[in-house]
Amino acid sequence: MKVLVTGASRGIGRAIALAFGARGAGVALAVREPSGPAVLELLASIPGARAVPVDLSDSAQTQTLIERAREALGGLDVLVNCAGIVHYEALADLSPESLLQQLTANFVAPTFIARDAALHMQAHGGGAIVNVASTLGVRPAPLTAAYAASKAALISMTRSLALEFGAAGVRVNAVAPGIIDTDMIRAERPNTAGAAALSVEEQLAGLRKLHVLGRLGTAEEIAQSVLYLVDAQFVTGTVLIADGGLLL
Ligand SMILES: NC(=O)c1ccc[n+]([C@@H]2O[C@H](COP(=O)([O-])OP(=O)(O)OC[C@H]3O[C@@H](n4cnc5c(N)ncnc54)[C@H](OP(=O)(O)O)[C@@H]3O)[C@@H](O)[C@H]2O)c1
Repeated sequence: MKVLVTGASRGIGRAIALAFGARGAGVALAVREPSGPAVLELLASIPGARAVPVDLSDSAQTQTLIERAREALGGLDVLVNCAGIVHYEALADLSPESLLQQLTANFVAPTFIARDAALHMQAHGGGAIVNVASTLGVRPAPLTAAYAASKAALISMTRSLALEFGAAGVRVNAVAPGIIDTDMIRAERPNTAGAAALSVEEQLAGLRKLHVLGRLGTAEEIAQSVLYLVDAQFVTGTVLIADGGLLL
């Protein structure tokens, strides 16, 4: 199995790359800095893994990603669109630049990468695509309006791709994680109106309580969900909620 993972330098994408590597898959890591220490360490941990450089904010790089990954891997069976960004900000403070940055990284770039992968898979007997969305794409929360909209759009695009490429044996699904303990959730957030300032640890304690399971998820648990969606041969166009009961 030949697998491309975006956002593989750290967090959830890194765990997904390691999970496929543990299965003996050929893994290409789509990363901004292929010679950064974290990527070099990951390359050393996954036999035969390759790094393919990409900055999702640069459409020229995004447009050639699938072609470069196919060359690096000698084919492509699975794409996991995991890279993403969030800016914690009130809608009142949202700038056009911030909205466009989040839409580009979380929706526009993954859409064209998935489209190009689906076209390749269509011509080569099928494949599987998993987009990493978010529960915020299903139900919004304060300070993440642009991010939530970008993930809702990604979920809609997941379904459209599944519809248009299913007959060719290309399955397209999304996973919607709850709050996962990575760098992404440790960024400082502005206060909601009238609220006292919270430390990052206080924020995390509050976030844990939002989950029925009483804890945050781990990157490895989201990797399990991705592997399930790649394995489940009769599942397409679905959104797997992996949220420890957050939406409940
Ligand atoms: N953590 C959560 O609670 C949570 C919940 C729901 C969904 N998600 C989604 O899960 C995915 C992974 O999140 P995470 O928690 O692992 O976040 P993270 O630790 O902040 O990692 C983000 C990844 O995206 C990459 N990336 C960001 N902008 C990029 C760009 N312009 N070009 C190329 N790569 C870029 C980063 O690369 P660099 O190392 O180069 O910055 C990094 O590998 C995201 O799509 C996120 O929206 C996360």
